[in-house]
Amino acid sequence: MKINENYSNLEESYLFSTIAKKVNEYSEKNPDKKIIRLGIGDVSLPLCKAVINALHSAVDEMGVKETFRGYGPEQGYEFLRESIRDYYLTHNVKLDTKEIFVSDGAKSDLGNILELFDNSTVALMPDPIYPAYVDANLMGGRPVLFMDANKENNFLPLPNKNVKADLIYICSPNNPTGAVYNREQLKQWVDYANSINALIIFDAAYEVFISDENLPKSIYEIEGARNCAIEICSFSKTAGFTGTRCGYTIIPNDIINGRLNRMWVRRQTTKYNGVPYIVQRAAQAVFTPEGFSEIQENIRYYRENAEIMAKTFDDLGIWYTGGKHSPYIWLECPNGQKSWEFFDYLLNNLQIVGTPGSGFGKNGEGYLRITSFGNRENTIEAMERLREANKILHV
Ligand code: MLT
Repeated sequence: MKINENYSNLEESYLFSTIAKKVNEYSEKNPDKKIIRLGIGDVSLPLCKAVINALHSAVDEMGVKETFRGYGPEQGYEFLRESIRDYYLTHNVKLDTKEIFVSDGAKSDLGNILELFDNSTVALMPDPIYPAYVDANLMGGRPVLFMDANKENNFLPLPNKNVKADLIYICSPNNPTGAVYNREQLKQWVDYANSINALIIFDAAYEVFISDENLPKSIYEIEGARNCAIEICSFSKTAGFTGTRCGYTIIPNDIINGRLNRMWVRRQTTKYNGVPYIVQRAAQAVFTPEGFSEIQENIRYYRENAEIMAKTFDDLGIWYTGGKHSPYIWLECPNGQKSWEFFDYLLNNLQIVGTPGSGFGKNGEGYLRITSFGNRENTIEAMERLREANKILHV
């Protein structure tokens, strides 16, 4: 057999695995130290009541002959697809339930969707960016082009007419920088994609953090997007499903006369048996009035964490962006430190874990990302440790 040599073009391990390994090694050597983890964007609040109730009753249904379910529809149960459709209607986006595909999360779909495209497909994405986009393309031997996202363009690159690509990745609110495109900017991307016959892969995983009604939560709020964009979203950050696993992908029928949608049906029916019934009932509960108000409470909690962190960085004179419409704060490492240098300093001296900006691309060098998904006490304690360290360093 011949192995896929494209794997040799990848970093030895995935960013978050490398960090976890470093943190575990430190923790084994220093069992008495309390480590505060603000690295990977994993939630700390439990599932909300409405979701738990839905899970319990779905579990009960599975234990009764009349309501037990075996294989479900690969694309997701109609009840969940309808709830997602109705949620999109609240921001004036009309979808057909057949355009919605339920999955076990955004990451799987982001990787698997590439099967629909030729190996020569050129991907264009911002740098810095969520590393899974890059790796999934490299694994298939697909060329990747990067566009600079930096302080000068507020980490929101816009189309460059001289660059041609087939797939354009947009994540807004952005992981890792927290930057959000406004309508005019997204319209430029949609027009550009339509003009060069490219497809936008819009990652909306953090849409629920947008607190300004004027900012678009979905690419389909932009005219022309149904012809050129698919949207991938997840319940992980919206409703704390990082361990429960559920997400969805939208493939409008307007793209190549429904061909892409039909291809995805073909792919999923062949390679996927769908998300467990009980998890889909849990996801449906997110869109009930109780569920929605409970998850908003959780989002508020994370937002307040972000405010606590932002205030600390303001007081310490550390430059940062994000945190307003995103669970991520993207900060400049103090005193010109490199990303991994500052990461090591924080871990070894303050026992705080962040994510080195350079792990998201070359433009991330000199930055660090921290998340507001931690619990309140730990967030406050981490900020106190930073303030103390700052006092000592300035004595
Ligand atoms: C992150 O920390 O960037 C995310 O949690 C990763 C993910 O969603 O897979």
